[in-house]
Formats: sequence, C-alpha cells, structure tokens
Amino acid sequence: METPMRVTVTGAAGQIAYCFLPLLLRGEVFGSRQPIELVLLDVEEALSTLRGVMMELEDGAYPLLTSIHYTNNVSEAFVESDVAVLLGAFPRKLGMERRDLLQKNAVIFKEQGEAINKHAKRSVRILVIGNPANTNAAVLAHFASDIDKKQITALSRLDQNRATSFIAKKLKVSPEDVKNIFVWGNHSNTQYPDLFNGVTDGGPLPDWLQDETFLRNEFIPTIQERGAAVIKARKLSSAMSAAKAVVDHLRDWFIGTQDIVNMIVCADGSYGIKKGIFFSFPCYCYGNGSFEIVPHFPWTPFGDPYIEKTKKELNAEWEQAFAALLPKSSL
Ligand code: NAI
Repeated sequence: METPMRVTVTGAAGQIAYCFLPLLLRGEVFGSRQPIELVLLDVEEALSTLRGVMMELEDGAYPLLTSIHYTNNVSEAFVESDVAVLLGAFPRKLGMERRDLLQKNAVIFKEQGEAINKHAKRSVRILVIGNPANTNAAVLAHFASDIDKKQITALSRLDQNRATSFIAKKLKVSPEDVKNIFVWGNHSNTQYPDLFNGVTDGGPLPDWLQDETFLRNEFIPTIQERGAAVIKARKLSSAMSAAKAVVDHLRDWFIGTQDIVNMIVCADGSYGIKKGIFFSFPCYCYGNGSFEIVPHFPWTPFGDPYIEKTKKELNAEWEQAFAALLPKSSL
C-alpha cells in the first residue's frame, strides 16, 4: 500500500459531497491502492449532519479509508492537505443580488486561501466547485499566494460532460466516441459550448450539427441552461452528475488522460484571455497533478460574441468580488 493521501473536502455535509465521498473511497479517483485520510469541513450549523456523514462512511467499511476527521475550523481542516476539494460555498438566497453572492463567497475563499497557504502541503492540489467557481478560484489563488497557480483549478467538466452527452445522444453513439467538445469561459449561463473542434469516429462532426440555427437555438442554450433545468425538475441542483464530474476532473488531473478535457484554470495569456482570470480551457492532463492549456484549438468566428460575453462577465465578477477584499488601487 502507498502512503496515505490527505484529502480535505469542504461543504462535506452537502449533497455533492454525499455522492462524491463513496466514489472517492472506492478508489475511482486515485485508484484502488491509494489509502486516504479524510478531513471533512462544514459550517457549525452543519456539524450534526457531518457527524452522520462520518458515521455512514465508517459503516461503509472502505479498505482505503485510513482515518476520518470532521471540523468547522478552517485552519485545522487544511493541515498537511495533499488535495482540497472545495464544495462549500454560500448559496444564492431569494432576492439576493449576484454582487452580494460574489462578495459573501469572496470572504469564504479568502479565508480558505489563507488557511491553505499557511497549513497545506506545498504540493497541494486544489479543485474549486462551489459557485461562482471561476471567481472563487481567482480569490483563493490571490490569497494562497505561495501556492503555484497551476495547482489550483475549478470545475467545468460537468459542462463538458453535458455537451458531450448531448451530442452523443444526437449521433446515437456512446459518449466515449465523441471527443473535443469544449466549453469555454465562465461556469455560468454565459459559458460558450463549442463543437467546431468535435470529432467522432476519428472524423469531424456531421455538417447538420454545425448548422448555426441549431447551435444558436438548441445546442448552446440547452447546455448553458442545463443546470437550471435540473433545478426546475429536481427542486435541487445537480449533485450526482456534479460528483461524477469531480471524479473525472481529479482522476484525469492525477492519473492523466489521452483526451483533451475542460478545466477552469488561471489564464496564462493563451487565446488572448487576460492573465490571472480563471477561465475554462481545453487542457492536456499528464498525471501527477500537472496540465497544460491546449494551444491549438481556437474557436471559430461564430464563437467570438459568446467569448466576449463570458469574458466580460468574468471581468465584472472579479471586480465585484475583490471590491470587498482589496483597496481600489490594487484592482
Ligand atoms: P449544498 O447546499 O447541498 O452543500 C453545500 C455545503 O456547503 C453545505 O453543507 C453548507 O453548509 C456548506 N458550506 C457553506 N459555507 C461553507 C463554508 N464557509 N465552509 C465550509 N462549508 C460551507 O450544495 P451542493 O449541491 O453540494 O453544491 C456545492 C456547491 O457546488 C454549490 O456552490 C453549487 O452551486 C456548486 N456546484 C458547482 C458545479 C460546477 O460545475 N462548478 C456544479 C454543481 C454545483
């Protein structure tokens, strides 16, 4: 057996965590030989639920689980973390402005960034899922200033999975036979799902899937609004599919994959996206927590207005989130 890996999961009393934790402990993320020391963080009001989650995990008799600890203390949660899976975030409440949501979460991700900076292993890898995921990751990266930005990613794999599955269903093939469908930008309804680089059976997608009316009226809005459609139907946001996407993202990041996968990462200037913005890009994952933004899959001119819109939204989110945290001169 290998040395245990210390995995901190925040928002651990929530619904994604409830779907994700059993998958993690069955070895779906780091493999069936990797023991795990689990640390669960949630807010004080959720501690009783968290204790229940812990009891259920113990009752699962998972051979990979070497220890489990739960807390509402942020500093304690990140001590010696190898991996941080950040699901906990302040939810949008009725009548709440988006600006307020951004600022509430900015405070949470500032505190967690500082705690990670101080207590986690220098090699820690961080995945932000809590919304607004891109901007929460940007805030965290700013305050975890000693941690390399390439160790911080956020989740857009659910959007890519949704888009890939949608096209596979249209083509009546398995999702694994559809590759290179990308979702660019913000994990919000301004994201740009782009199938112009898509391939199936080693060739381009059929012309009828690239018809602009179909893209504008069916494909793009369906993917952009899929999260809202799930909420409408289930009265709760996506959890099972989100947990699957978290597994896919982490497994590919740590184990590696031949596929090109979407990750929200810190822009390095590729594709003309401003450095420092956390943006969903197509990425190569080499394993061991390393990745590169794939350089040669530009969107077509059809995508330009969509990209402009999502970029603009991210810039505005950045300013609104940081307005609460930093003096104006440093924005
Ligand atoms: P949930 O509401 O069931 O659970 C969230 C948990 O976070 C709650 O237990 C809550 O007490 C906890 N929490 C709140 N503030 C916290 C803090 N400061 N520290 C630690 N824990 C805290 O939500 P669910 O469904 O599990 O979703 C988690 C997050 O993931 C939400 O923000 C949701 O919007 C987001 N999400 C992101 C997706 C993506 O693709 N990036 C997809 C689906 C959901």
